[in-house]
Amino acid sequence: MKVIAITLGIIIALAVLSVLTVIYTGAFNVATAWKDPALVRWVLVTTRESSIARRAQAVQAPVLDVANRIDNGFRTYREMCAICHTSPGGEVSPLAKGLNPEPPDLSKDEDHMSVAELFWVIKNGVRMTGMPAWSPSLSDEELWDIVAFVKVLPNMSAADYRALDHRLSPGRE
Ligand code: HEC
Repeated sequence: MKVIAITLGIIIALAVLSVLTVIYTGAFNVATAWKDPALVRWVLVTTRESSIARRAQAVQAPVLDVANRIDNGFRTYREMCAICHTSPGGEVSPLAKGLNPEPPDLSKDEDHMSVAELFWVIKNGVRMTGMPAWSPSLSDEELWDIVAFVKVLPNMSAADYRALDHRLSPGRE
């Protein structure tokens, strides 16, 4: 019994020592420009997807198919999201190129997220990435407008996006 306790104690002390060594020696590379190895990337992506899927279960979606929701969502997307997530026919911005992980191009995104998951991630953000939480700045209604727009975005051509931009540009509305 005593031997087991001593062995366990040594293992725990060594584990704590290893963690402290990584924290204090600078062994871990915090550079954004350093790309994560495939295994680290898999751990991060899988953790993110499971976390979002679990927390989005409690989200109740309102009716999204309402006039003006897509227009309102577009206005916010153009102002606050396109710089990172680009737009149909748009260039990847210098800001987006420097982020790690890279922000996905939401106009090319396959339909892999439910509306509840989209709402949760836009509202709460993703820790340790460039994805901000929008809950301090936008109401739930405004967030649902964005979800309505993001859902139709993959079906929009560059011409559709430009036409919407033109129709909703300040001074024309
Ligand atoms: C400063 C850059 C930045 C801005 C601004 C930004 N995002 Fe993001 N967003 C990111 C990054 C980086 C990720 C990827 C996070 C990851 O891979 O874990 C992300 C992830 C997402 C995802 C999850 C996509 C997926 O496939 O998992 C959605 C949805 C999203 N953002 C929507 C938005 C919306 C809508 C806005 C505007 C209200 C916005 N983002 C503004 C950087 C940004």
